[in-house]
Amino acid sequence: MWDDFDQTLAELRCRGRMRQLHPRRLDGVHLVDAAGRRLINFGSNDYLGLASFVASKSIRVDSVGAQASGLVCGWTDRHQLLAETIARFEQTEAALVFPTGFAACSGTVSAICRQGDLILSDELNHASLIDGCRLSKAERIVYPHRDVDAVARLLAAHRDAHRRVWIVTDSVFSMDGHVAPLGDLCEVAAGHDATLIVDEAHGTGILGDHGSGACEAWGVKADIPIRIGTLSKALGGQGGFVACPQVVADYLVNHCRPLIYSTALSMPAVESALVALADPQEIRRRRDRVCALARRVRAELGLACAAIESGIPIVPIPIGSDADAVSASQRLYDLGMFVPAIRPPTVPEGQARLRLSLSAGHSDEMVDRLIEGLPSF
Ligand SMILES: Cc1ncc(COP(=O)(O)O)c(C=O)c1O
Repeated sequence: MWDDFDQTLAELRCRGRMRQLHPRRLDGVHLVDAAGRRLINFGSNDYLGLASFVASKSIRVDSVGAQASGLVCGWTDRHQLLAETIARFEQTEAALVFPTGFAACSGTVSAICRQGDLILSDELNHASLIDGCRLSKAERIVYPHRDVDAVARLLAAHRDAHRRVWIVTDSVFSMDGHVAPLGDLCEVAAGHDATLIVDEAHGTGILGDHGSGACEAWGVKADIPIRIGTLSKALGGQGGFVACPQVVADYLVNHCRPLIYSTALSMPAVESALVALADPQEIRRRRDRVCALARRVRAELGLACAAIESGIPIVPIPIGSDADAVSASQRLYDLGMFVPAIRPPTVPEGQARLRLSLSAGHSDEMVDRLIEGLPSF
């Protein structure tokens, strides 16, 4: 019965692409592997080091689970407070929280982009946006990565045949550290009555004076009415959100399947996000620290990038072949550092890489060690 599964797995093994889950223990900016080896973790998305900071705050909850979907009785006063806190942070009329960022992205895009609409989607968008596009009843066209001219051409050719056109993009691309050209995209969108939907998963907490993300950094928050984010990366917890006009929130409550048919965000996750968002000074201090580390690593490794990208804590080290990326990652492992090798299908064929991610919790000495370990590539 499982022959074809076996065969698919054998093919993956043969190509060195078999992926597995490895049990590890998380310990601040370290992880401890199954053999008890303690490594500096350069693979997590806990950019601000808030995961352990929030854990140290001894959060108390009366129930672990939210016990039901939001519409039944799972949306508590604490969910409402978190949604209002996020709406203030994002400067939108309303916000909703989801069990994961993936659910926020796929659920929002699939519900908002309707039959008769067109979606223009960046080719390197995250899987959650891609799945949202696939599940939606809108037509979709994938455009070359960050190519504003291509978007303009597609709008000129297709705008009139559709009721609405949505430009869907990550704000910070998780495998490249690229920032989407949101200012230019907004300008092109305005010329064709199109609307952007942006996933700020890796921008939240990092970009913009107040840390609300790339839309803030580009000064286009007011032009991008629907912004999706996650509580699971820089905010150190778990869950997702969408910040949007009230009418969109009301529409999602009635049409977004992951909101309607999934248990609401768990109570510890709600309380953790409230703690993470409680102190803007703490976010800013940690943001300044991690961005400084990212600038230092890029400068010392001679990695050029646009000014807006220099402080992004995702630093990809291009390698090429899968095998070379895996052996580079293993060499760093042997030196006591965890830096994941990222291979297709997560990145395009022939573009395997190391994906370094930095955290405000990394010390200067840890980063010294990383830089010393890297030149051998
Ligand atoms: C760009 C992007 N969007 C959405 C998500 C999903 O967020 P979450 O991990 O909270 O489900 C991720 C997670 O990897 C991501 O990188």
